[in-house]
Amino acid sequence: MSEPRHILVSGGAGYIGSHMVLALLEAGERPIVVDDLSTGFRSAVPAGVPLFEGSSGDAALIGGLIARYQIEAIIHFAASIVVPDSVLHPLAYYANNTVNARALIACAVEHGVPHIVFSSTAAVYGEPDRVPIDEQQPTAPINPYGRSKLMVEWILEDTAKAHPISYAALRYFNVAGADPQGRAGQSARNATHLIKIAVQAALGKRAGMDVFGTDYPTPDGSCIRDYVHVADLAQAHLDALRYLRGGKPSLACNIGYQQGFSVLEVIDTVKRVSGVDFEVRLRERRAGDPASLVASNQRAISRLGWTPRYNDLETIVRHALDWERRLPSAID
Ligand code: UFG
Repeated sequence: MSEPRHILVSGGAGYIGSHMVLALLEAGERPIVVDDLSTGFRSAVPAGVPLFEGSSGDAALIGGLIARYQIEAIIHFAASIVVPDSVLHPLAYYANNTVNARALIACAVEHGVPHIVFSSTAAVYGEPDRVPIDEQQPTAPINPYGRSKLMVEWILEDTAKAHPISYAALRYFNVAGADPQGRAGQSARNATHLIKIAVQAALGKRAGMDVFGTDYPTPDGSCIRDYVHVADLAQAHLDALRYLRGGKPSLACNIGYQQGFSVLEVIDTVKRVSGVDFEVRLRERRAGDPASLVASNQRAISRLGWTPRYNDLETIVRHALDWERRLPSAID
């Protein structure tokens, strides 16, 4: 007997992917996970969800899974994501993010998978002319990470014109927080993301933290970002899936709250919510940081029907703290 239709989640053992798998299960979908476990964790995949260890660029693996599980859509998270790393190792980023995605898309076309939801990024905009950034603004990435992702958007765009496949490229802003029920969260071995670092400082897992730059042209001089709760981000993918199943046209779409917070405001919020006053060192700018990135989210709301539920920085921080408290010290 053949399997019923499934959704293939690449990178489903990672931070965002593991929240996606939970959201799919809650929505009554059937996910399967492909993950090379380079940054993901086997334990992040819920019992009962098939996990295949391997690369999303492995055509034999992916082709076999598409046939066996009658894959109806691919949600593609597997990627390298650290911007400064991408500057040091561009070829590794183009291989993992662009070449592997091209292979995955080719498999989807060859085996007739009708829909792809792709993890894109605000980094495709580079240094924006103005905020909030809408999708009509030019894409002009300033680092290999953003370029590696933008190339995949182009591959998808051209492929969808030539073949019967539709896609949604979701351009995430700053993803943060953890599952509100405490089932998943961010387990990075070497954290670089602001909220993760700040909650680790609050819990004494690191000795204070640095602020990279206080001379930006922003009200308090630190960089402004649009922090989106990972559970709302997962919901946006479910909305995109429904949108594509409805036969709607392919699109690129920002996912953010259209609200910016400075680095210093984020740190204040972490101190307030945790009740801990940790050391904060004011440092030089970090290379490659745009001063301000805030999403226009009108397209996500009007076209995908996205309704954020956790649009509140304190809630994001509280969930991140709850998860960090629960994490075993072997995994920071
Ligand atoms: N920051 C600090 N101290 C820290 C860590 C971060 O001051 O210890 C600052 C950064 O300099 C930046 C802000 O906090 O101004 C946010 O930094 P993150 O590293 O958390 O996130 P980024 O905005 O650099 O990057 C995120 C994603 C990328 C994505 C990018 C899109 O992590 O994958 O948004 O612009 F490409």
